[in-house]
Amino acid sequence: MFFHEILEAKPDPIFGLNEAFQTDARPNKVNLIIGIYKDERLRAELMPSVKQAKAAVFERDLLADYLPIDGLPTFNEEVGKLVFGEGKWKENHSRIYAAQTVGGTGALQVGGQFLSQEVAKTIAVSTPTWPNHRQVFERAGMRVDTYPYYSREKHGVDFDSLQKHVNQLPEKTVLLLHPCCHNPTGCDLTRDQWKTLSQLLLKRKILPFFDFAYQGLGSGIEEDRQAIEIFLDDGHEMIVAYSCAKNFSLYCQRVGALFVVDENAAVKLRVGSQIKKIIRSLYSNPPAHGARIVSHLLLDAKLKAEWRHELESMRGRIGKIREKLIDRLNSKAGGADFEFLRPHKGMFSFVDLDKSQVQKLIDGFGIYLIDNGRISLTGLNGENLETVVDGISAVCKS
Ligand code: LMR
Repeated sequence: MFFHEILEAKPDPIFGLNEAFQTDARPNKVNLIIGIYKDERLRAELMPSVKQAKAAVFERDLLADYLPIDGLPTFNEEVGKLVFGEGKWKENHSRIYAAQTVGGTGALQVGGQFLSQEVAKTIAVSTPTWPNHRQVFERAGMRVDTYPYYSREKHGVDFDSLQKHVNQLPEKTVLLLHPCCHNPTGCDLTRDQWKTLSQLLLKRKILPFFDFAYQGLGSGIEEDRQAIEIFLDDGHEMIVAYSCAKNFSLYCQRVGALFVVDENAAVKLRVGSQIKKIIRSLYSNPPAHGARIVSHLLLDAKLKAEWRHELESMRGRIGKIREKLIDRLNSKAGGADFEFLRPHKGMFSFVDLDKSQVQKLIDGFGIYLIDNGRISLTGLNGENLETVVDGISAVCKS
């Protein structure tokens, strides 16, 4: 009586497809769907340094008490240093509000609710973007617009169109940006483009909101935060949503953070008070375990060095498998040139297939990827690479 008229929602384009993959009985099926780092054996394992930090946290006799509403202070502090760089964090932390959140998605949701309640009701996201962005911000009460980003003709970022579009956005629009490893395309802005965009946003009074989910998986911890450093140096107020899922392999622990860079400490205090009210009404306060692991690891110089090294080898595997894929595709795909994949950064590459080609890959070859043509490269290894090359070559020719 109460529920019988409820309509069924469409399955999630990423997690829903992953469920379909699990029920596919074909032995040679390949999963290129979710942005999870998998090793050469296609296993998503806890990084060894994170495992050590987890064991150390487990052994300590920690109280079962609640965390504060905005989370574990040492976690916020240490992640702040990663996001902004140690020097800039020290210089600016008195005006940067930080809250531990339930994953990066939780940070986006809390940030969106804060914006729609206090600052601005419209956010523009790139075309294309992570499929979840729209519903996260709509649920937060925002109107979601788009800005041009990827051009299929250019096989890359169309920065001219992006600039033209941003130049006519109304003041106080929020612009959602991916500082590295753009999801889904793998195409990032260059350093000069970030500098140009930063000036444009200042001129147009547009608020940058960075979704920072892949630090360390693009070019390196420091290199991947260059956009944030440029914007901070240019004097922006801004928001950063951070995820520890991929770079700490803490997917299921839901560890993230929200940073709001304010004008000064007095504004920070007021901003923080509103965000705490939002968090309190959403989930009261965040879970402790994952944040304690990250905080322990980052405070231990030896573990931190090991973690950086492990991250580097993950990045190395992604780079190598991308190179192999390009070389094999180039030699096989009937004249199609896949060189455009080479500058891509991070776990994803946009292979520029349309929806019907993607469906053919799923139906005909058991190769699963989301329908915008994004592949998650860590689903590839020496064993399944040829299957994927054959599949992509075949659908390109047909
Ligand atoms: C992805 O884009 O595949 C990941 O960020 C996982 C997710 O939550 O969608």
